[in-house]
Order: sequence, then C-alpha cells, then structure tokens
Amino acid sequence: MLNIALTKGRLEKQTMELLKQVDYGVEVLENKGRQLVVQDSKKPCSYFLVKSNDCITYVSRGVADIGVVGKDVILESNNDFYEVMDLGLGKCKFVVASLPEKNPYTKVGHVVIGTKYPKVAKTYFTSKGIDVEIVKIDGSVELGPILGLCDAIVDIMETGNTLKENGLIVFDEIVDISARLIVNKASFKLKRDEIKALLDDLNKVV
Ligand code: PRP
Repeated sequence: MLNIALTKGRLEKQTMELLKQVDYGVEVLENKGRQLVVQDSKKPCSYFLVKSNDCITYVSRGVADIGVVGKDVILESNNDFYEVMDLGLGKCKFVVASLPEKNPYTKVGHVVIGTKYPKVAKTYFTSKGIDVEIVKIDGSVELGPILGLCDAIVDIMETGNTLKENGLIVFDEIVDISARLIVNKASFKLKRDEIKALLDDLNKVV
C-alpha cells in the first residue's frame, strides 16, 4: 500500500488529471465528501490532500510514502526526502520584482526583501554578493513594496498578471519551478516495487 500526499490548491487539478492519465483512481478523492483519506479502488494506494508545507512534513516523516509538491516549497525545505521526478505541472518562476523606481540592485545602502520564501531569497542574494535583510510575508507579497514594507520581493510568478495589475516589474528571474514527485527515504527501499510501478507509469506520460 502506498500512502500518497497531494498538494491542495494551485497544483490540485493538474495533479489529478495526471494521475487519471495513468489510471490511478483519484476520482475517489474528487468524490470524497468530508472524508480526508481515501482508498483507490484500482491501485494499492490511498490519497490525502494537504497544504504544500504539510505535504513535505508528511513525506519526510514517512506518514506518506509519496508526495506531489512544488519545487518552490522544496527549495525552502530541509530536503529530508528524495526528489525523484519533475512532473512538468504548475510551471512558474521565482522572480525578484518591485515598483520600477525601486530597483534593489541599484539601491545604495540597506536593501529589504519581502518574501514567503526567506531561504530562497537569502541564498539567491548571497550568491550575488548582495547583503539583504529578509522580511517574511505570508501572502499578497506584492503589497510589500507598494506600502513601503520592503524594497523588492522574491515571489513566484506564473502568468505575471498579479505583478502587472499592481504596477510591479520583474528585475530578475531566479529559477524555474514545477511540481515534483517526492519519496520518503525509507519507503524508497521498503516499497521499491510499488514506487517503481508508479514511476514507470508516470514516465510514460510525463
Ligand atoms: C502566488 C504568488 C503571486 C501570484 C502569482 O500567490 O504569491 O501572488 O500567485 O501568480 P500570477 O503570476 O499568475 O499572477 P497565490 O495565488 O498562491 O496566493 P497568496 O498570495 O495567498 O500566496
């Protein structure tokens, strides 16, 4: 039996579609009502939907054998799992953005970066030899430079509409992001055959 943690929200629909393509019966999840964990009727799998950070926690601690989660959250985590496949879903980018007049690269003196991803932001600016102060923001990060909380933001951009509609521009692209399949380290050995079967199936369509 494989316990599979799927990420709610942005990735949810595309993940379900992908699993359906390889005949994993995620219909049970779609029709789950208020049930939190559901059993596949065709494959030896059970599924549950969680927030992205929790997906990583469940997989790292072996409660889930497998998880589907965005690379953005993986980069921000401590990586105590194997990242085995790029599923090619939920494609977006990490960018540095701000108001046109607030270029963080030309600012003289103290630079403040607002972000939901402190580790990614700090690592990136350090790699560029720029010392920045990071301010953690949990949502609507674009507000930061507009209201003067920070000089610029590090955030994910998918369509670019949120930035555009708020008058922000991209100063730099950091890295491409997409959904990844992650596997608990112990499960990778103990449930090798079931995991290999799933990977083989996914490899046919990804
Ligand atoms: C993310 C991100 C941006 C937006 C980018 O937020 O933080 O705000 O999506 O998408 P776009 O380039 O397609 O406009 P999300 O929708 O996850 O909500 P949040 O602000 O609550 O984190």
